[in-house]
Amino acid sequence: MVLKKVGVVGGGLMGSGIAQSAAQAGYHVLLAEVNQELLEKGMQRVHGAWQMLTGKGKITTDQAAEYKERIHGTLRLEDFSDRDLVIEAVIENLDEKRKLFKTLDGIVPAGNIIASNTSSLPIMEMAAVTAREGRVAGLHFFNPVPVMKLVEIVKSIATSDQTVEELRQFAVSLGKTPIVAKDTGGFVVNFLLIPYLLSAVRMYENGVASMEDIDTGMKLGCGYPMGPFELLDYVGLDTTLYAAEAIYKEYPDPAYAPPTLLRRMVQSGRYGRKNGKGFYVGAD
Ligand code: 3HC
Repeated sequence: MVLKKVGVVGGGLMGSGIAQSAAQAGYHVLLAEVNQELLEKGMQRVHGAWQMLTGKGKITTDQAAEYKERIHGTLRLEDFSDRDLVIEAVIENLDEKRKLFKTLDGIVPAGNIIASNTSSLPIMEMAAVTAREGRVAGLHFFNPVPVMKLVEIVKSIATSDQTVEELRQFAVSLGKTPIVAKDTGGFVVNFLLIPYLLSAVRMYENGVASMEDIDTGMKLGCGYPMGPFELLDYVGLDTTLYAAEAIYKEYPDPAYAPPTLLRRMVQSGRYGRKNGKGFYVGAD
């Protein structure tokens, strides 16, 4: 089927980035949030990005105006009753996501795809509460969404080949490169990335080196654009912890066990750049 109307649930960093990318690619986008304040924040993030790109001369003011016309916000999931594709990007909590999938299943036309941007939770657990398990898949974007070229398509044991193919075409239409992964903890990228980030925290906890030196080591020694602590602040300490816990649940290997320091940082409300408190940001 030809996808035209896309719904995105959740206007946080990932959801707003997905909405921005889809609107830029020509889709009509509806972005849903739970209250007016969060909706305005999400829409503002998207409009702010287009303003930044206009200021840099990367898009024209006409293009920015055209993109803006293609994206609208809503507080009502019922408005998704005409969507060809819905992508959820809400909090990484399985109960919340299952509740949402059940609600969306009663609203989004039967036969249309409902995808999750989860970084590590089982897709099958979400598909199981719907009456369309073949039309449910993971569509995992990377932060910052408009810049990072990868999309992981996650195929559960019930996802149909047609669903994977349609999502592949959708990802390509956004200018992304899709890869297909099985529905196993961490999929491809986080299965490798999360233990790397956790190891960096353990090295710091054990006094092997300072955060700055660990970051410099990986940037200059391996050519990574950010060191692990910069990346932790960037993607979110809470997001990293939830991903680690989800993977550890499936693979109880010490490499995936969240280190105490990461737990304490999250328990104390240090989530990274998103709330201005993290390893570097907001540090005394
Ligand atoms: N829309 C479009 N373009 C944007 C944009 C947006 N919203 N935000 C930034 N850009 C563009 C900028 O215009 C800039 O373009 P230019 O170089 O042509 O001028 C380019 O992106 C880079 O932006 P900046 O100049 O602001 O910043 P940097 O050059 O310092 O790069 C970075 C920032 C791209 C974040 C880089 O440091 C990087 O690649 N870091 C690693 C990010 C990473 O690893 N992400 C994956 C995390 S894992 C994940 O997300 C999975 C999850 O499940 C945990």
